[in-house]
Amino acid sequence: MSTNLAAPVASVVAAPAAQPWRVGLIGFGCVGQGLYDILQQRPETGFTISRIAVKTPGKARTLPAERFEFDADALLSDDSLDVLVEVIDDADTAFRLVSEALRRGRRVVTANKAMLARHLPALVQLQREGQGTLLYEAAVCGSIPVIRTLDAYFGTEPLRRLTGILNGSSNYVLTRMGEAGSDYAPALVEAQQLGFAETDPSLDMGAFDPRSKAVLLAAHAYGAFLNPDEVLNLGIEGISAVDIAFAASQGQKIKVVAGLQRLPDGRVTALVTPQLVGPESPLYSVDHEFNGVVIEADFAGEQFLRGRGAGGHPTGSAVLADLAALRQGFAYQYPKAAEAPAYASDLEVEIYLRTDEDRIIDLLDFSEISEEADEDEYVVGYVALANLIRHRDTLRKYGAFIVRTGQLRPVGEAVAAALEQA
Ligand code: HSE
Repeated sequence: MSTNLAAPVASVVAAPAAQPWRVGLIGFGCVGQGLYDILQQRPETGFTISRIAVKTPGKARTLPAERFEFDADALLSDDSLDVLVEVIDDADTAFRLVSEALRRGRRVVTANKAMLARHLPALVQLQREGQGTLLYEAAVCGSIPVIRTLDAYFGTEPLRRLTGILNGSSNYVLTRMGEAGSDYAPALVEAQQLGFAETDPSLDMGAFDPRSKAVLLAAHAYGAFLNPDEVLNLGIEGISAVDIAFAASQGQKIKVVAGLQRLPDGRVTALVTPQLVGPESPLYSVDHEFNGVVIEADFAGEQFLRGRGAGGHPTGSAVLADLAALRQGFAYQYPKAAEAPAYASDLEVEIYLRTDEDRIIDLLDFSEISEEADEDEYVVGYVALANLIRHRDTLRKYGAFIVRTGQLRPVGEAVAAALEQA
């Protein structure tokens, strides 16, 4: 008996449609163009971009002007479109369009991490109430299939920790500064020219963008729907060659790392900051615009995903993967949401702080200092996570640069240890 290996595996969901799926594309920036280009190169994927809505008429674009229209709402009400792809910059408009599409029971793919991080509970609720489906693999780590891995594969396994480099632009800048002795400003210009950075690059450099991504990971990894404002984000705007040299003197690199962790009491914490990373970590060799995520699961142990985290084609590839998944009837299950853990911020974090402002050191109120170098203006010690969250704007304003060592401990542990010794 011969077996047709090309035949689709029997599935409980509908087989792929014979007709190509008609895609309504909203936005034609880096990601929209990336998707368009991939579908041009691979027409056999069975998706065709039927309508493209953009905001600004008259802008120079790579396609003839007649390919574009300017009313995205018209795509929402076009029932001949099988799926809508939303890849615009503006988070408020994106939320209005995506939520309205879901209310109408549409299938939607988005890459808008800032919008998702702010509105995920509402968007999940809309899907539960209606018939719409929303996928967003492209919103986190570009081409790395991390959301689907967490939701579908690790949906039933408890996770100890997730550690990731989630922003390609800041990783590119840090890599260039370490590699070529390049300065911060030219390295950032390079990241912008290569199309990795957000329109407002302070979202990348201030770690707002990877914070949005960490919020999305928390929803799928732990069932925790976090308010982005509660999650500490510290960026690299204040970094200098001194800091890179400090890390190198310890055999380490500075990376912007998102750390999500389950605590012994079952609560979870999440923070996104520069961190010292040594060669023992798989993240050490994640350079340039690449992203990486280390998943530590209770039974599977450690796994590491690495891939391109930014750029039109890698991100377009993730959108295409979502389109194919929708055609197979896939939807996120948020399998851990029913037992969502509480969020913990009553922790102390060990940091390296470089600042020429004594008031910053006073403000952070270190509970323990293990190293101080007056000449290089840095101090290493433990501070309350709550203080870092409370004062993050002041830290940015005064150009203070902070790197986590990776050590966390409950608030008051130093006091408890001192009392024990007394
Ligand atoms: N600006 C983002 C980054 C693009 O640099 O990672 C991908 O989300």
